[in-house]
Amino acid sequence: MKGIYTALVASAITGAFAAPSPIEQGPITARAAAAACATPVTLSGNPFASRTIYANKEYSKEVVAAASAISDSSLAAKALKVADVGTFLWIDTMARISVVEENLKDVGCNQIAALVIYDLPGRDCAAKASNGELAVGDIATYKSQYIDPIVAIFKKYPNTAIALVIEPDSLPNLVTNSDKQACKDSATGYKDGVAYALKSLNLPNIAMYIDAGHGGWLGWNDNLKPGAKGLADVYKAAGSPKQVRGVATNVAGWNAYDLSPGEFSKATDAQWNKAQNEKLYVSLFSPELKSAGMPSQAIIDTGRNAVTGLRKEWGDWCNVNGAGFGVRPTGSTGNTLVDAFVWVKPGGESDGTSDTGATRYDSYCGKEDAFKPAPEAGTWNQEYFEMLVKNAKPSF
Ligand code: BGC
Repeated sequence: MKGIYTALVASAITGAFAAPSPIEQGPITARAAAAACATPVTLSGNPFASRTIYANKEYSKEVVAAASAISDSSLAAKALKVADVGTFLWIDTMARISVVEENLKDVGCNQIAALVIYDLPGRDCAAKASNGELAVGDIATYKSQYIDPIVAIFKKYPNTAIALVIEPDSLPNLVTNSDKQACKDSATGYKDGVAYALKSLNLPNIAMYIDAGHGGWLGWNDNLKPGAKGLADVYKAAGSPKQVRGVATNVAGWNAYDLSPGEFSKATDAQWNKAQNEKLYVSLFSPELKSAGMPSQAIIDTGRNAVTGLRKEWGDWCNVNGAGFGVRPTGSTGNTLVDAFVWVKPGGESDGTSDTGATRYDSYCGKEDAFKPAPEAGTWNQEYFEMLVKNAKPSF
């Protein structure tokens, strides 16, 4: 995922930011099934306040396998701990729906399942790396064979709390990349598809966060208002669904939470962007959302933002070299606008292939600051994962 931004930002965790303790659920290999809730869950307020994110089996499996392939025993032990971190499960194809239920079954009453809805027609219109299975115009398939079956499964689990990130990059791309033909062609389907998803997934046990890019994207002075309007219009077209909490920022991104001055604050165009870290971005974007008529709580992806100063340009989004796992998921953020720090991108899964001959090769994945070699988006990159473990802050 990730398109081209008209500009960008980043920050880091400073001393002023107390790192929350990791979510520990016991070693993955010996995890006992947690007790599910006895009665239906109705979410209101911060759904992460009293729940930890469920460590889904798909990512845990990848991590356990990766850890067992590491010969350095101290690094392997650290790597294994990553399997217990709750991350988001990406439903990035219709076929992937098949793993949803076996994960939902396992979620305890003090936990929340976390998933990403990501299969719009013409997906990733401003880039190539994450182009999806549905062609522009195939909105009927998106609705009937992607969203509807997911809704049917969720309806079987009313006693389970679920958090959703809705369609990363899609609406932000319509705000800043509408000059690109692919984004122009995708616009109607994105708006219709996201509205349909919000409306259909509006169940009492679900909390939804619409993707809002990051500070270096919609955070530019000129993008804040159109960005908020772009999201709010779709939210309203969906009938202002009650279970929308607000937005997800920095998804699969690299910006630090509260590094000050921000990573790109010395760039020549910095004067045009006051959202120089994600904390600032949320503080600027949230009031705009509110006045545009949309709920404005945020969750922020801190999965890979431990190390700053790695990107040549704010908009570099692909497999940034030198990165490390960031602050662990927590609902204690010390910021009333921020429901949770979350790991949306499963660290170790690639952002895009570095194979210049591949159909989905995007030049961003060949840039100087991108890790190479890298496999197709979403597939495992062992070396990259080991690097994230070594550079993790706080360390494992
Ligand atoms: C890929 C998806 C993948 C997700 C999480 C995206 O960039 O396009 O296929 O599921 O990342 O790794």
